[in-house]
Amino acid sequence: MVVIIGWPLSHSLSPLMQNTAFMAAGLHDWYYIPISVPKYPSTRIKEAILGLRALNFRGANITIPHKEVILPFLDHIHETAQNIGAVNTILIDDEKLIGYNTDGIGFIKDLIENKIDPQHKKILILGAGGSTRAILYALLDHGCDDITILNRTIAKAEDLVKQFKPRFPKASIDSGNLSDASCIKADLIINTTSVGMNDDLYPINMSFSPEQIVYDIIYQPRMTPLLTKAQHDGAKVINGLGMLLYQGAEAFSIWTGKKADIDMMKKCLYPI
Ligand code: ATR
Repeated sequence: MVVIIGWPLSHSLSPLMQNTAFMAAGLHDWYYIPISVPKYPSTRIKEAILGLRALNFRGANITIPHKEVILPFLDHIHETAQNIGAVNTILIDDEKLIGYNTDGIGFIKDLIENKIDPQHKKILILGAGGSTRAILYALLDHGCDDITILNRTIAKAEDLVKQFKPRFPKASIDSGNLSDASCIKADLIINTTSVGMNDDLYPINMSFSPEQIVYDIIYQPRMTPLLTKAQHDGAKVINGLGMLLYQGAEAFSIWTGKKADIDMMKKCLYPI
């Protein structure tokens, strides 16, 4: 049994995708279920994570807004997740809760699938949460050396620069306010904020040109206001379905020890 824990979860395609992958692998007694755990009261997420062992779960996915706060509740954190500072996948093995992060690899694999080489590109990241950490680390580890991070709460973007700069001293990593997004020229713009997932007033006001690539890690809706504007302006647009797919395939292997059937997972994410 595997669970996805987050808030909100109603939009999540992970249960459909992972249950399809379990079936395709002949794992007929495996189930992937969503359980909503809100951010407040803040004690709830600790109770939920520690409860995984008692409830005999094999694994979990952790999503917005819990990817960073759960680290202290785990018994061991895999090196990549340690470097990132966020966990999106938990394996419960031999009574131990082990934290992994598959978001970064999922993101890079999707860039490759889209024939995008992020190296030598000027990159703008919108957001500074748990997903940002994974994407930022993956890009820096991939050799990207010109990245600006903008966030509504500037202090969080500044903290990311402080944490990652010493590990990648040759890279230029800058921070700033989300409201300045329109002032920055970049080749690749990546939205990691949750804005665009619902009908809230959209705080990002940008214009694009055809040479630019705009990647939004949101997949529900498929076209966020950011992607709609970028497409209208002629930029290449990519939504979060591919990253969902590849991070999920990595997590599947961690729990089951088997290779995921990517084609079957794709079929349920991209029905004709
Ligand atoms: P995840 O783990 O998916 O990254 P998170 O850590 O909760 O989720 O991060 C959510 C991101 O969306 C943050 O960058 C957050 O900005 P703040 O750090 O200022 O909270 C951003 N975000 C959420 N709602 C937003 C809004 N209405 N306007 C702008 N940014 C928003």
